[in-house]
Amino acid sequence: MALVGPPPLLDSNPFAALLGDLREERSATVPFPPGETRVSLARTKRFADDPLPLLLESYERFGPVFTLRLFHGNVVFMLGPAANHYITVSHASNFTWRESHFRDLIGLMGDGLLTIDGDFHRRSRLIMLPAFHRERIASSVEVMVDETERALDQLAPGSSIDLYAWTRRLALRVAMRALFGLDPDSEGDHAVDAASLFEQALSFYSRDYALRVLRGPFTPWARLQQAARELDRLIYSEISDRRATGARGEDILSLLLDAQDEDGSTLTDLQIRDEVMTLMFAGHDTTTSTVAFMFYELARHPQIVSRLLAEQDAKLKDGRPSAAQLMSGELSELEMVFDETLRKYPPAWIGPRRSVEAFEFEGHTIPGRAFVNYCSWASHNLPDVFAEPSEFRPERFTPEAKAALPKGAYVPFGGGSRTCIGMRFGQLEIRTIATLLLTRFTLTLPDDFQLEIRQMPTISPREGLPMIVAPRTTAPRSDLAAVA
Ligand code: HEM
Repeated sequence: MALVGPPPLLDSNPFAALLGDLREERSATVPFPPGETRVSLARTKRFADDPLPLLLESYERFGPVFTLRLFHGNVVFMLGPAANHYITVSHASNFTWRESHFRDLIGLMGDGLLTIDGDFHRRSRLIMLPAFHRERIASSVEVMVDETERALDQLAPGSSIDLYAWTRRLALRVAMRALFGLDPDSEGDHAVDAASLFEQALSFYSRDYALRVLRGPFTPWARLQQAARELDRLIYSEISDRRATGARGEDILSLLLDAQDEDGSTLTDLQIRDEVMTLMFAGHDTTTSTVAFMFYELARHPQIVSRLLAEQDAKLKDGRPSAAQLMSGELSELEMVFDETLRKYPPAWIGPRRSVEAFEFEGHTIPGRAFVNYCSWASHNLPDVFAEPSEFRPERFTPEAKAALPKGAYVPFGGGSRTCIGMRFGQLEIRTIATLLLTRFTLTLPDDFQLEIRQMPTISPREGLPMIVAPRTTAPRSDLAAVA
C-alpha cells in the first residue's frame, strides 16, 4: 500500500493562484499589521534585488511584525527571536508550507518534504529520518573526503577560480554519490548531466516574478519543465534499475525504495522521485553558499585564517583530519567560523508560511490564509540581538556565548519538528570541504571584488566568487601556542 499523498494545490495555474490570493486578502476578517501596503513596483524590485536593507528598515519603522505589499499581495514579516520561535516551534501547526510561497517549488520538486504538510509530511519524514541518523551520515565521510581531494587536485597555485562554481559541482557530486549511490564517473556521466540540468532548472527561481508566471514555449517555465523531464529520466531509470536488480547500498535512495512506515505503507516511484529532487535541491545549494561565504569572510580576515591554521597544526595528525574529528566538530575555531558564517549569511534565508487561522502576535492581528514569513537573515542581523551585526566575529559563538543566546535568536536550520533534516549531513560536508581546503591552500580575493548577494532561491554571491589560489601559509608560532 502506498502512502496517500497531499491534496493538489487549490490553484496550480499561477494567474488563478494570483487572483485567489487577492480574493483571500480582501476577505480577511482582521486587519493586517501596519506597513507598506500600497502597490509599488519599486518596493517589489527592491525586495527581489536586495531584501535585507528593506527588511531591517521596516523593522526599525514598524517593529518586529509588519506588512509589505510585494508584487500583487500583502506579505507579513515576523522578525526576531520571539517571532522565529512562534512560527517554527510554539505555533507551527497554524502555518502551512504547501500553500505558502514554497508552492513555487512544486513545479520542480513535486510533493517532497519542503512542499507538504500534516500527516503526509509526518509519515514521509519518519520514513526518511533513519537516512540522516549519525551512524548513517558517518558512512558518507569517505565519499566527502574523496570527492573534496579530487576537486582540490584540480586547483593550481597561482590560478583564479570561481569558488562558488567549484563548490557547487563538488556538492552535487557528493550528493549524487552519498545520497543516491550514483557513480558520477560511470558511463553517461550522471553528475555532469545532472549538474547542468539542475543549474538550468534552478535558474527559473532567480528570474523576475513577472517572468516566472508566464507559461508556454520559450518561457522560463518551459526551460524548467524541459530540465525537470531530463532529470526525471535519470532518476526514474535509477529507480527502475534498482527495483529490477535488487541492488542496494548505504545511500538514501536504497532506504526510500525499501521504506515502510508503521502501517506497512511504502513510497511510490513518483514520491521517491519528488524526495530525491527535494534533497538534491536542498542539499547542495545551501552547502555551496555556506562554503563560498565562509571563504569570502576568511579572505577579508587573515588573522582568523591564521587561528584556523594554528588549530590545524596543533590538532591534525600528519596534517590530515580523522573521520572522528570531522564528525565531532572537534576543530572548535572552525566551528565558530562556521556558526558565524551561518549567522551573517544563512543560505535558506526565509521561511515562507501561510497562516491557517487568524492569530495575534505582540499586539498585532494577522489574518488567516495570509502569507507570513520568518526570516533568519534579517533576524540574525538585528543590532539589538547581535551587536554590530555586519562585523564578522566568530567569537560570538564560543560555547558559552552560544548557550546564552535567546530562544529563536539563531535559526540557520529552522526549528521545531521541521528543523532541517539534512543538518548533520550539511555540517559534515562543509567541515570536510573547509578543513581539507585549508590544509592545502590559502584563498584570496581580487582587489576590486565587491560582494553582491542574490536571494533566489537561497542567498549566494550574485556573480559567483572569484578567488586566487595560493599554497597554504604556515601559522605563526604565537597562534600555535594559543590553540594547543
Ligand atoms: C548549511 C547547510 C544547510 C542549511 C543552512 C539548511 C537550512 C534549512 C532550513 C532553514 C530549513 C527549514 C526551512 C523553513 O523553516 O522554512 C531546512 C529544511 C530542510 N532541509 Fe536543509 N539546510 C542545509 C542542508 C541541507 C542538506 C544537506 C539537506 C539534504 C541532504 C537538506 C534538506 C532539507 C529538507 C528536506 C528540509 C525540509 C525538512 C522538513 O520540512 O521536514 N538541508 N534546511
